[in-house]
Amino acid sequence: MSYPRTQPLPYEFVEPLARAAARLGPFARQVLWYPDLPSTNDLAATLAERGAREGCVVVANAQSAGRGRQGRSWASPAGAGLYVSMVLRPAEHALPLVTIAAGVAVADGIHAATGLVPDLKWPNDVFVSGRKVAGVLAEGTSPAAGTYVVLGFGINVSAAAYPPEVAAGATNLEEELGRAVDRGLLLAECLCGLAARYEDLQRGRTKSVVDGWRGRAAGTLGRRVQWHAAGAVLEGVADTIDDNGALVVRTKTGLARVTAGEVRWM
Ligand code: BTN
Repeated sequence: MSYPRTQPLPYEFVEPLARAAARLGPFARQVLWYPDLPSTNDLAATLAERGAREGCVVVANAQSAGRGRQGRSWASPAGAGLYVSMVLRPAEHALPLVTIAAGVAVADGIHAATGLVPDLKWPNDVFVSGRKVAGVLAEGTSPAAGTYVVLGFGINVSAAAYPPEVAAGATNLEEELGRAVDRGLLLAECLCGLAARYEDLQRGRTKSVVDGWRGRAAGTLGRRVQWHAAGAVLEGVADTIDDNGALVVRTKTGLARVTAGEVRWM
């Protein structure tokens, strides 16, 4: 794959990133901007395979093949959302909670930039007013290139970010706020959130990340959930997450741990 051509970072991003520089940690080093990419996660993975340092950030104004979790696509029209991926090289002890930490960080970033108070649904879907506003896709690792994780997140900034068929379950920041959103500030605050939560993880401050998640998931813990395991549909009440990021569910037969896949909130 040849690299697409990076463009100068637009001023709407330069200023807020410069103001946040002291809080950006590893993400202060390199933010690459592209008007259009197939997927920022794909480019970040290519860069990671070719030795990119931890903290390299890829931002696109639009994606033609944006990907979501569970093989879904992520609509990414130009200028309607924030489409961002970064290369991380976590210590082994940090790996299980990277995706949980990312959800907390994006929720923190949205809160800092807009004042909205997002909720989290396991593992890392970000909701406002009961509808999804942002999602996180963590992918990665190849022994040949050293352990890495590509962490991507997408935020719906305006209603144009998603197609009408998902509008019932989705929302966007501009609709929630009733005003325009500063995408530069939003990017800067999300990266600051990621820098802080990632540092917690790397330094073994697991409790702070898990407590941060629980604090933002108060609206979803205690609700009934269904999930698939070993060909059966199981059901129970979401209780908490454990120190490895698994969802702990209270069932009729005891506590169950859900570690992967989709859960349906009822
Ligand atoms: C989800 O399904 O909730 C996760 C959505 C993640 C979308 C982001 S947008 C930037 C990055 N590039 C992709 O192709 N996907 C992620």
